[in-house]
Amino acid sequence: MKLGVLILAAGQGTRMRSRLPKVLHPLAGKPLLSHVVETAQAFSPDRITVIYGHGGEQVKSTLADQHLDWCEQKEQLGTGHAVIEALPHLKSDDRVLILYGDVPLISGETLEALMARLGKSDLALLTVKLENPSGYGRIVRDSDHHITSIVEQKDASEAELAINEINTGIMAVSRARLEGWLARIDNNNAQQEYYLTDIIALAVEDGVEVQSVHPSSEEEVMGINDRAQLAFLERYYQRQRADELMAAGASLADPARVDIRGKLVVGQDVFIDCNAIFEGQVELADGVKIGPNAVIKNARIGEGVEILPNCVIEDAEIGAGSRIGPFARVRPETKLAEKVNVGNFVEIKKSTVGRGSKINHLSYVGDSLVGHSVNIGAGTITCNYDGANKHQTVIGDNAFIGSDSQLVAPVIIGDGATVGAGSTITRDAAPNSLTLSRAKQLTVSSWHRPVKQPKK
Ligand code: UD1
Ligand code: CA
Repeated sequence: MKLGVLILAAGQGTRMRSRLPKVLHPLAGKPLLSHVVETAQAFSPDRITVIYGHGGEQVKSTLADQHLDWCEQKEQLGTGHAVIEALPHLKSDDRVLILYGDVPLISGETLEALMARLGKSDLALLTVKLENPSGYGRIVRDSDHHITSIVEQKDASEAELAINEINTGIMAVSRARLEGWLARIDNNNAQQEYYLTDIIALAVEDGVEVQSVHPSSEEEVMGINDRAQLAFLERYYQRQRADELMAAGASLADPARVDIRGKLVVGQDVFIDCNAIFEGQVELADGVKIGPNAVIKNARIGEGVEILPNCVIEDAEIGAGSRIGPFARVRPETKLAEKVNVGNFVEIKKSTVGRGSKINHLSYVGDSLVGHSVNIGAGTITCNYDGANKHQTVIGDNAFIGSDSQLVAPVIIGDGATVGAGSTITRDAAPNSLTLSRAKQLTVSSWHRPVKQPKK
C-alpha cells in the first residue's frame, strides 16, 4: 500500500506580522515545516508533497535538501481546493495522510494510530475534545455516536456550536475515494471556500463509516497563527525535552530555563544550570556540570567536565576531567584531551591540546598543536594569520610560555622549552631551553616626572 503525505502550507500567516513565511519560523531552532516533514519521513512515504503559496521560493530553498515534492496553490480558495490542486501528484498512491505545515508537534505515534484506523475504513479523522472549541470545525455525530459531518464555526447552528469535539484537520484517507469526494464539493458556505471537511458528509453518504482517533495531548494538534502561540509551543516542546533529560538522570537547576535545539544526549548525574542552550548534536558524559548561560553546539563533553559560567563551545571535543571558563570560547575543530584547563577570556580555534595543559587567562590559541602538560601564560597570542594565510603553531610537551608572548606562526616551540614573558617569537624555540626576545630594561635615575604648571 503506497502512502502519499500531503502537507498544507499555502496560507499567508498574516497574524505572524513577518516577512518570513509562517512555516519557516523556527521552533527549537528548526522551521515549523521541517518538524512536520521529519515526523512524516518516519513513515517512509512514497512521496511528501508540500502545497505552498506565499513565500514559496524561500520555503523551497530552505527545505531544498529534504527530497520534497512541491505543489503550488496560486490562489488560496480553501483546504479542499488545496488538496484538489495536489491530486495529480498523488496518482500512484493508495493512501493519503494530510498534515499541516503550521501544526509542528504532531507525533508519529498519533499518526500511526490514525493510519491503523484506515485499515477499517476509507477515512479516519484526528479529532480532539476542547474546553473551548471556538473557531474550529465541529465533529457532528448521530445518536449511535457515528460521525456524520464536520461543520465549520462560521456555518454552525447554535446546537452545533455547543459541540466540543473538534476537527484537527489531520486525516488519513483512501486516495481513490478522496478524488471522488473532492469532485463533488463546492464553495456554497459562509466563507465561499472549498472545504476539505465537506468530504466527511459525502463519505457518510457513500456508506463509509468514518473513523476517529484522539492525539495523546492537545499540544500535538495546536496550530500556530501568531507569535504568542509559537512561543507557547516552544516552551511546551522544551519542557518535554527537559522532562526527558531528568528521566535520563540529569539534574536541571530550572527545567523551564533550558533550550535544546537539536539532540542532547546525557550520561548519569549531569547537572545543567540555568539558561543553557544546546544546539545540533551534543553529548554530555557522566558527571558533566554545565554552568549558567552556556551555549554549546555540536560538541562532545567528556566525563566529569566542568563548564563554568558564560562559555560558548562549538564543534569541539572536550576531554574528561577538563575545566572550561568562566567566559571561555571554544571554536570549531578544537579537540582538548583529558584534564585540560581553559580559563577566562580564552579563545581556542582549530587546535589540539594535550592532556593536563593549562591556558588559564586571556589568550588566543588558533591553528595550534599543543602538547601535554603545557602551561600557556596569561595574554599569550598565537599569531596565526599573516593577512593572507593561516599558519600553524606547534608547542611541545611540558613547554612553558611566559605571559604576554606572541608566537608568530609558523613556529615550533620545542618540548620542555621555556619562553620568557613578553617575548615575540618569530623563529623556532629550542627544546629544554629558555628563549626570549625582550628589550633590555633601563633605569634613568635623573629623570623627573613632569608637573602641571599652575594657571596664570
Ligand atoms: C481548518 C478546518 C477546521 C479545523 C481547523 C483546524 C477546513 C475547511 N476547516 O479550518 O475544520 O478545525 O482547520 O485548525 O478545512 N491552507 C492552504 N490553502 C488554502 C487554505 C488553507 O494551504 O487554500 C492551509 C493553511 O495554510 C493552514 C491550513 O490549510 O495551514 C488550515 O487552513 P485555515 O484557513 O487556517 O483553516 P481553518 O479555517 O482554521
Ligand atoms: Ca487555522
